[in-house]
Amino acid sequence: MAWLYMLLLLNSCILSSALEEEDYIAPRYNISLDLPPEQRWKPILQHYNVTELKEISNRLLMSMKYQLSKSIICYMADIYLDFYVQEPYAGEMRGIAKTVGVRPCEVVLINLYYETIMACTSIITEDKEGNIYHGRNMDLFLANMFKKITMDVDFIKNGQIAYTGTTFVGFVGLWTGQSPYKFTISANSREKNNVLWKNTLSMLLNRSPVSWLIRNTLNEAPDYQSAVSQLSNTPIISEMYFTVAGAKPGEGAAITRDRNGAADVEHLNASNGTWFLLQTNYDRWLTQPRHDNRRDIGIAALNSTEQENINKVSLYEVLSIPKVLNRGTVHTTMMSAAFPQDYVSWIRVLKESNDFFMFLLRQQHNLGIDLAELLKTLHKN
Ligand SMILES: *[C@@H]1O[C@H](CO)[C@@H](O)[C@H](O)[C@H]1NC(C)=O
Ligand SMILES: *[C@@H]1O[C@H](CO)[C@@H](O)[C@H](O)[C@H]1NC(C)=O
Ligand SMILES: *[C@@H]1O[C@H](CO)[C@@H](O)[C@H](O)[C@H]1NC(C)=O
Ligand SMILES: *[C@@H]1O[C@H](CO)[C@@H](O)[C@H](O)[C@H]1NC(C)=O
Ligand SMILES: *[C@@H]1O[C@H](CO)[C@@H](O)[C@H](O)[C@H]1NC(C)=O
Repeated sequence: MAWLYMLLLLNSCILSSALEEEDYIAPRYNISLDLPPEQRWKPILQHYNVTELKEISNRLLMSMKYQLSKSIICYMADIYLDFYVQEPYAGEMRGIAKTVGVRPCEVVLINLYYETIMACTSIITEDKEGNIYHGRNMDLFLANMFKKITMDVDFIKNGQIAYTGTTFVGFVGLWTGQSPYKFTISANSREKNNVLWKNTLSMLLNRSPVSWLIRNTLNEAPDYQSAVSQLSNTPIISEMYFTVAGAKPGEGAAITRDRNGAADVEHLNASNGTWFLLQTNYDRWLTQPRHDNRRDIGIAALNSTEQENINKVSLYEVLSIPKVLNRGTVHTTMMSAAFPQDYVSWIRVLKESNDFFMFLLRQQHNLGIDLAELLKTLHKN
């Protein structure tokens, strides 16, 4: 085993020397809700190279596994856009397609495809003073590509920020967002192998794509309770987890969604020791898969952080421990509805050494050792 110790020692040195990760803040733009939907995204798109956006669009479309010919799928997507998509989303997607110079059906397909394949970690915490923090990691396939098009957007109505969200260029829905002084929301996908075609029937029944429901809720819900209720009860096209945090003590909920309603809602309650909620991509009452146990790793980190030490910085650290932060992590968004100006998304930069560390972590079962314990021992000595 000597070689392994050497390897670990070496790696833990590289790891500590690489602690100054060059995470950077995502670009932030205003979008005016007072403009017609078709025109809203144009000023943002002008910050991007249209040729590169087209390439990204092609890569995303290629990553979909078509079971029908492309022209039939595109035809279906156009019908969906014309007859089923609610405003402002239909108009916004048409405007994006026109500005970038791609077909509307392509924008629709990309928007719907990415409804269902987010592997993420969301955490809500309450500190001893009753301050609520909400942090989330967004993990996606093709992460490096998504890092280039991640942005925070302030949606402006009558010169005021109506709500804020994090999305990708070309995507009109939100998976992460904040209604200032009221609540914050993040969504994590629930279903395995959840591809577009499985959802087609569900879509034709006119249910809401999840990212649109989130944006609607940010736009409409007058308070935290109404947001929890809207996210719990509105029919959606695929199963999902919603994490909702408010601005007052005790306002935090982790909602496990079936398509038609809530399967389970867990509430924050610091007075009985439930000072945090953590949601990944598995039902919390089930045993977590060994190959992806972000839940237990995150909970152990929160347990050892303790409620008196939780704050924006320590929550970010929990979202940065290996496995919780991984090769697929595109951004970490930090929010707190009571302090809306603090909303920020960090694009995560994973160093090679950390990747190597991840590789070792994944191998730990094969090697028959507990690397975390081993690392702890090495650090102590
Ligand atoms: C846009 O990207 C393409 C492909 O990477 C490149 O060839 C072109 O020069 C870029 N255009 C501008 C204006 O930067
Ligand atoms: C965005 O809109 C807000 C509210 O109207 C304004 O204060 C801010 O300066 C705008 N930011 C940019 C970059 O235009
Ligand atoms: C604490 O309270 C919450 C909300 O009332 C409840 O869901 C949870 O089961 C309680 N936990 C314990 C350990 O009593
Ligand atoms: C929080 O937990 C305590 C102790 O279990 C319980 O008495 C109280 O009703 C809970 N609060 C809420 C809002 O559920
Ligand atoms: C975290 O702490 C709780 C309460 O003390 C305990 O029940 C749970 O097993 C701990 N979980 C982990 C993963 O350490």
